[in-house]
Amino acid sequence: MSVPASVRRRAAKLRAEIEEHNYRYHVLDAPTISDAAYDRLLRELRELEAAHPELVTPDSPTQRVGAPPSAAFAAVRHRTPMLSLANVFDEEELDAWDRRVRAALGDAPVRYVCEVKVDGAAVSLTYEDGRFAVGATRGDGQQGEDVTANLRTIRSIPLTLRSRRVPRLLEVRGEVYLPRSAFAAVNAEREARGEPPFANPRNAAAGSLRQLDPAVTASRPLQIWVYGLGYAEGLALRSHSEALAWLREAGFRVNPLTATAASLDEVRAYIREWAAKRASLDYDSDGVVVKVDDFGQQQELGATSQAPRWAVAYKVAAEQAITRLLDITIHVGRTGALTPTAVLEPVRVSGVTVTSATLHNEDEIARKDVRIGDWVVVQRAGEVIPEVVGPLPERRSGQERPFVMPRSCPACGTPVERPDGEAVARCPNLACPAQVRERLIHFASRDAMDIDGLGEKLMTQLIDRGLVRDPADLYRLTRDELLTLDRMGERLAQNLLDAIDRSRTTTLARLLFALGIRHVGQHVAELLAAHFGTIEALMAASFEEVRDIPGVGPTIAESVVAFFAAPANRALVRRLLDAGVRPAAAPAAGSPDGPLGGARVVFTGTLSRWSRQEAEALVRRAGGTPQEAVSKKTTYVVAGEAPGSKLDRARRLGVRVLTEDEFAALVGAR
Ligand code: IVH
Repeated sequence: MSVPASVRRRAAKLRAEIEEHNYRYHVLDAPTISDAAYDRLLRELRELEAAHPELVTPDSPTQRVGAPPSAAFAAVRHRTPMLSLANVFDEEELDAWDRRVRAALGDAPVRYVCEVKVDGAAVSLTYEDGRFAVGATRGDGQQGEDVTANLRTIRSIPLTLRSRRVPRLLEVRGEVYLPRSAFAAVNAEREARGEPPFANPRNAAAGSLRQLDPAVTASRPLQIWVYGLGYAEGLALRSHSEALAWLREAGFRVNPLTATAASLDEVRAYIREWAAKRASLDYDSDGVVVKVDDFGQQQELGATSQAPRWAVAYKVAAEQAITRLLDITIHVGRTGALTPTAVLEPVRVSGVTVTSATLHNEDEIARKDVRIGDWVVVQRAGEVIPEVVGPLPERRSGQERPFVMPRSCPACGTPVERPDGEAVARCPNLACPAQVRERLIHFASRDAMDIDGLGEKLMTQLIDRGLVRDPADLYRLTRDELLTLDRMGERLAQNLLDAIDRSRTTTLARLLFALGIRHVGQHVAELLAAHFGTIEALMAASFEEVRDIPGVGPTIAESVVAFFAAPANRALVRRLLDAGVRPAAAPAAGSPDGPLGGARVVFTGTLSRWSRQEAEALVRRAGGTPQEAVSKKTTYVVAGEAPGSKLDRARRLGVRVLTEDEFAALVGAR
């Protein structure tokens, strides 16, 4: 069956239009249509392609997500090796490098390009006749892994070049990173999936790129800064700055903080400026890269087998400190994952007192050979979770004890399982008290059912007194029962009952997230809620139906279907509904022309008029999208009482801050 020409033309037009909007949104940071209008274009194209599968091209924007998961990554040989950079750690070493460069060039004038060194994962993107063909990790520099399907999910990577001068073969180099503003949310998702959190955004970026299921990569808002050419056939470029300008023109995201420097003094000024800006950037940066601009001079200088002589990284080391590892404790998470945590003698690292640090998992401890009693180096990389870098074996007394992962769960004694090929050891007992407690805490938490005031301590008491065994019990608590708890007065009890009652009115996405289904984080919960509308429909869904939702895939589908097949889980849902929990179908997206059409809104602090859920519903009704983290793309931050660090961040990024009254007026609420 042939596709009518008019349909073919419409599909081509939609494709071009959608890619143009991707470019404006993700590269230029200057969208010209609302998210809802964008979604409409994408939906129309998806429908056309579904009706006429012959229309699907590999560079169609619908194909950014949707490649099936693979079993392993194929190897890719880089056309030009991906070298690393020589490091200098202070001004003196930088001077020495500059002197060597000038001497080798016979004291000819040298111009430098200064760039921010982004701490992420290096990638190479190959374009054939202007189309994105292969994307690879750095690997050992000669050969990397084919992660094309995952890179396609990054919307700022052009699928087709915009330039008219298109080389037949082009290899572009850049650094993929996870914005700092998205890091916390990604880790929350991971914990929801029962996976250990990433220690820092760099690991998160590298880990996300090496996901076998592109749907998982797509759920992480990865970004890229493109910083150079690996190979370009027939492009007449004379310098690195010209290459960057060409890359920008061709639609790549080139860091605007790049600058040329006519002298070493200008390089130093650039480094000072970078040091001042560093903390407020939305990505981790571990230094500045200085490159000789002129390609002729680059060639003259050449490279060692490791690194080019024409470039250098001026690096500031992550802040580190030395302290004693007092013990390694095991935390049992709500999915049963056993995570070893270092208990440290308190030590200050970049202005913060650190008393514990993640050790990730058993293999990491063995690889680093960290023993209890060791002196260890601790670092706060990217100013996030502290991490144990490694031991100082020369300081050992002989009293140190190697860590042994317990064979049985420290909370319930059940033998621990560790499937082949997985790094995480797990307690398989669903009734394990530690898991039950963590699941209940998760259920009540802010992003889940949002039961205000019901934190860890109170929940532990409720469990210990036998008042609560599963989430449905929360909805049957009485005032008299609450009054038997320590430090519980009339007023507090009433507040708690009110908060529990308010949580009965919730969204389906929140309820699904609250249930703690493995692999169902907030993002997936929203996809499921939007697709099924009611919990009954989801409970009746087949594996195939769940799997085929864009962004879901087989792993998640299997977990969801298995969860709702278990009689105990069905009974729990029934009891929750009987207790008056009313999950509303995904709130219909507001009109793009509403008062908040296309706006992204973040709340911080305590709101006096609405619960978080109510406020978020107001945003949606007005055509906006509520978000957790503040980024440059945030339209408004609404500050309630005692606002947190999100307010500082909003001010730093120049995001408009609203009071509750201003927000109410804007959305027309009382
Ligand atoms: S140039 C031959 N520029 O740093 C030139 N690298 O330590 C090699 N990186 O593997 C790279 N930002 O992953 C260059 N603006 C930048 C960079 C950058 C981050 C990474 C890159 C490289 C590593 C070397």
